[in-house]
Amino acid sequence: MSIHNPDIKRVTVHTLQELKQKGEKISCLTAYDYSMGRLVDAAGVEVILVGDSASNVMAGHETTLPITLDQMIYHAASVVRGVKRALVVVDLPFGSYQGNSEEALRSAIRIMKESGAHAVKMEGGAEIQESIVRILSAGIPVMGHLGLTPQSIYKFGTYAVRAKEEEEAQKLMNDAHFLEELGCFGFVLEKIPAVLAKQVTESVGIPTIGIGAGPHVDGQILVLHDVLGITQEFKPRFLRRYADLHGVITEAVSHYVDDVKAHNFPNEKEGY
Ligand code: KIV
Repeated sequence: MSIHNPDIKRVTVHTLQELKQKGEKISCLTAYDYSMGRLVDAAGVEVILVGDSASNVMAGHETTLPITLDQMIYHAASVVRGVKRALVVVDLPFGSYQGNSEEALRSAIRIMKESGAHAVKMEGGAEIQESIVRILSAGIPVMGHLGLTPQSIYKFGTYAVRAKEEEEAQKLMNDAHFLEELGCFGFVLEKIPAVLAKQVTESVGIPTIGIGAGPHVDGQILVLHDVLGITQEFKPRFLRRYADLHGVITEAVSHYVDDVKAHNFPNEKEGY
């Protein structure tokens, strides 16, 4: 297996723009630690998102709300140490940017300074305008996130598809243009109808990255633990599993337990 674009030495926000212009799809995955960041980077994804989904898959919380800025910085710094090529984007966690733009800028600066990441991602459109502008004016690239925004799960009440109705679809389209005008380098479209994602993608000049948004977006993102089959219960229609690590890990560990119990590990060659 090879990296699709070995000539890209280091992915930047400009690389993503070029890929959109060339019509080449952008591959993105999440990662939360050094070892996985290193593997995912070496396998050739263009963007690694240190998502606040760490709250779910790393910490076992039901939602993304509990994870803190300090915890996100810890995950991001670990990933950055393993990455040589991909653009590393870090989620600003719930509560670190909604209060006011000063707090938002302080949070974004902490992420950039303490983790060495390359950009931040924020959920929302017009309602977080001031924070986006302030962060961008400090020279920090910002990625948006529209559609199903998990930090607002208690407002939505469910993880169902968003923007099916005309009014919400129109607001999403307006927000998409708004993010582009503000200077965001791209945005995630999560769990919206494929037709709407296509319309949005065709009407903006910056890359759109879909998750549960169909094929007509500029790139795709999934949560690494879902792709590798580490998580089992989460089975949305949009998810494609590329491995069954749940099975592989369970089998390997139970084999190890059996060997220890049976005095089969370590053998003579495995000692000093
Ligand atoms: O936190 C996350 O993993 C995300 C992606 C699902 C887009 O925001």
